[in-house]
Amino acid sequence: MFKGKGPSGFGYGSSAEDVTHGLDLTGRTILLTGSNSGIGNETLRVLAKRGAHVIAAARTVQKAQAACDGVVGETTAVACELSEPASVQACAAEVVALGLPLDAIICNAGIMALPKLNQQHGYELQFFTNHIGHFILVTSLLDSLADNGRVVVVSSGAHNNAPPEGIQFDNLSGERGYNPWANYGQSKLANLLFANELAKRLSGTGKTANSLHPGVIHTNLARSMNPIARVALSIGGPLVLKSVGEGAATQCYLAVNPGVEGVSGKYFADCNESRPSSHGRDEAMAAKLWEVSEKIATEVAA
Ligand SMILES: NC(=O)c1ccc[n+]([C@@H]2O[C@H](COP(=O)([O-])OP(=O)(O)OC[C@H]3O[C@@H](n4cnc5c(N)ncnc54)[C@H](OP(=O)(O)O)[C@@H]3O)[C@@H](O)[C@H]2O)c1
Repeated sequence: MFKGKGPSGFGYGSSAEDVTHGLDLTGRTILLTGSNSGIGNETLRVLAKRGAHVIAAARTVQKAQAACDGVVGETTAVACELSEPASVQACAAEVVALGLPLDAIICNAGIMALPKLNQQHGYELQFFTNHIGHFILVTSLLDSLADNGRVVVVSSGAHNNAPPEGIQFDNLSGERGYNPWANYGQSKLANLLFANELAKRLSGTGKTANSLHPGVIHTNLARSMNPIARVALSIGGPLVLKSVGEGAATQCYLAVNPGVEGVSGKYFADCNESRPSSHGRDEAMAAKLWEVSEKIATEVAA
């Protein structure tokens, strides 16, 4: 693991505080999902501390409000249950009604490695929550994105664990085979491909889209892992994993740092551009995923 600094001047050990140091974000509005836990909660804290107005989304408005109450700065709590399209649409409508151009949307919320197949609206739940929920949210808000607004999609190095063929377009229900880690990997590959295709569609507008791997951080994300692995993580994690502050750095960097002004369609890790898997670079797969996601969004909204 390379722990030094990369071309951006930041690296593995940089924190969200480091990558926003000296920035005055007063007047900026940033929508963030998953604001009540883990690296999302740290992202909320640091961006609000730097002066941004953070629209903090969580599954319920109570969770979002509790997150907002725990930080200093300007925040607005909104409910957004990503696995429920009606909730996502209501969130988007609430955000549009605020009438504020969005300087960034950070798609941070996620679930990982559910032991058994779970479905929502007939689709495997990790794909539906991590990708489709964010797809509906972001595509509903593109008109609200500021002229140089940034969409930041939290993917993972686990996109490398997607099935050998990449997105299993013939098995999005999971019924023809389910594996907790491969399906998590598929959902994270979908996050990455979504950002790539969005970047292509935003090309020439000044608006950007990028994806990232935050690093490996001990958070509530491990809640579905077996108890022994969770105990091992909580004991050994602080020694070998990134801190929550370090884990939140790359998404904060992409959302607000001037160093990535105009950069779009890239995948980042440790606050520097990184090379995704071959599927993560597959433009045809990204285009197909967009098409399929639009169809699913229409179908589940009906
Ligand atoms: N931690 C890591 O090592 C790691 C590595 C690579 C990528 N990531 C990615 O980083 C992101 C943040 O993860 P984290 O580590 O901070 O995990 P976390 O502490 O578990 O936070 C995940 C957040 O997502 C929210 N969420 C889950 N399901 C949702 C749903 N259906 N609708 C709305 N919100 C929902 C959670 O809300 P509740 O608290 O209400 O459940 C929570 O706020 C995820 O996208 C994850 O895939 C993390």
